[in-house]
Amino acid sequence: MNTDDTMKFFSSTFSVVEDSNIGGEASRRIRSFVRREGRMTRAQRRAFVECWARFGVDAGAATLEPEWLFGRRAPLVLEIGFGDGESLVAMAMAHPEMDYLGIEVHRPGIGHVLLRAEALDLSNLRVMCADAVEVLRQLPDESLARIQIFFPDPWPKARHHKRRLIQPPFVKMLVPKLRWAGQLHVATDCEDYAHSILNVLRAVPELANVADGGGFASRPAYRPLTRFERRGRRLGHEVWDMLFARSQPEV
Ligand SMILES: C[S@@+](CC[C@H](N)C(=O)[O-])C[C@H]1O[C@@H](n2cnc3c(N)ncnc32)[C@H](O)[C@@H]1O
Repeated sequence: MNTDDTMKFFSSTFSVVEDSNIGGEASRRIRSFVRREGRMTRAQRRAFVECWARFGVDAGAATLEPEWLFGRRAPLVLEIGFGDGESLVAMAMAHPEMDYLGIEVHRPGIGHVLLRAEALDLSNLRVMCADAVEVLRQLPDESLARIQIFFPDPWPKARHHKRRLIQPPFVKMLVPKLRWAGQLHVATDCEDYAHSILNVLRAVPELANVADGGGFASRPAYRPLTRFERRGRRLGHEVWDMLFARSQPEV
């Protein structure tokens, strides 16, 4: 991509999210994010131009066939809202036997991951620059071994709770994308959001809580601390992990 193409890419990518048509109902959807761009470094801009063709996946209408994206068939992990992506990169490095697809709207974070993926020559990592709610339908059903959402924006004020990502309609979109026994892993450091998420997930007949005792889970060894989490820990925040598996609903 040259610089002009990059600018076209940014505007076309995000025109997709202006109006949504989820579940066949045209609506102006409340988004789970506010795009505060921050400044992209020169290196991050260069990464969009030079590394997108290798590590980037364009949002659009076409179905994304994992085997086509990665050139092989391997368990696929989807991470939504990876932030600066350091923990996603660490997981991709630690698990070469798995493939990782990250979706984020924060371009400096995406630029950062592109640079890291290039420097580490990671063949099992791809990123999308898009609103996850808009592009989920591009993934085939039963294609994901795990969906991970670490520290989704907490939107702590009651009047903003409607912006929270983990709500029943969104989970309803996620579940069919999991293969049987595939896992949905969410972590948050916001206590009332943690309880709300747990209740949302418990109410889904096709999801079974993997945690001993059916409550919150311990942090699995595969999940590194994320940037947002480390900041929360410095402020004394607790963390709640939730781990559910797709299962046959009981009849
Ligand atoms: C609080 S940050 C956490 C980032 C990272 N997971 C961490 O723990 O450091 C939440 C991230 O989710 C992203 N996000 C929110 N809604 C999203 C959506 N609908 N699609 C993709 N990314 C989203 C935001 O841009 C933000 O980077």
